[in-house]
Amino acid sequence: MRIPIIAGNWKMYKTPQEAVDFVQAIKDRLAAYPQAERVICPPYVALAGVQAALDGTEIAVGAQDVHWEEQGAFTSQIAPNMLEGLVKYVIIGHSETRDHQGVTDEMVNKKAKAALAHGLRPIIAVGESLEINEAGQTREFVGKQVHAAFDGIPASDLANVVIAYEPIWAIGTGKSASGEQANDIIGMIRGIIAELYGDEQANAMRIQYGGSVKPKNMTEFMSQPHIDGALVGGASLKEDAFVDLVRLAVEAKGLS
Ligand code: 13P
Repeated sequence: MRIPIIAGNWKMYKTPQEAVDFVQAIKDRLAAYPQAERVICPPYVALAGVQAALDGTEIAVGAQDVHWEEQGAFTSQIAPNMLEGLVKYVIIGHSETRDHQGVTDEMVNKKAKAALAHGLRPIIAVGESLEINEAGQTREFVGKQVHAAFDGIPASDLANVVIAYEPIWAIGTGKSASGEQANDIIGMIRGIIAELYGDEQANAMRIQYGGSVKPKNMTEFMSQPHIDGALVGGASLKEDAFVDLVRLAVEAKGLS
């Protein structure tokens, strides 16, 4: 049984104070769903405040990116050792960092290894553009991203890794993949993990869907056998919607 994981990726939304107010307001409501892992990924500047506000709860905190070096002349970047003790998870390879900050498959791999070396759990994001999707090359493209991301990562680290399949054309557009489409690609990703590490590891790997996930379509995704949770942008910024997403995941997986 894979424990569902619902993560809110807040992107560049909410000031530190707004972030703390938000988690204070929903932490008791989220505590009602221990059957799912609940993760909040606020902007870096809000991490300390959110972590302190969630201290003593089982709600985890995640960062939205990490550099692979421990220090250096890398203006604007945050090192993995700086996040130790502050976060449990870190999103790596989000398409917005691949597209706007030049993050490559090779960098995703280095970031994932660095995160694991520092006891952080990577949520490795993969996904294709509309152009690639329409050209029928999704499987090949996403497959290549997954192979690259896991290059050199030992099986002993896999329990600490989550994958998020986020088709770029579904992010922030209101146009989500169908549950079946997402399940199909996520099943393929699980197949790659099986090829690389064997069936047992593949069956244990948690793989989320992301892209315009809302309470109204959450059940469709969570009812799919390969989909183990969601990486959520817009809907995770609203108190009621985020709590609903967690509740719907628990219900759809028969854990309520
Ligand atoms: P939306 O849920 O706003 O489409 O964003 C998805 C996403 O990019 C989460 O990482």
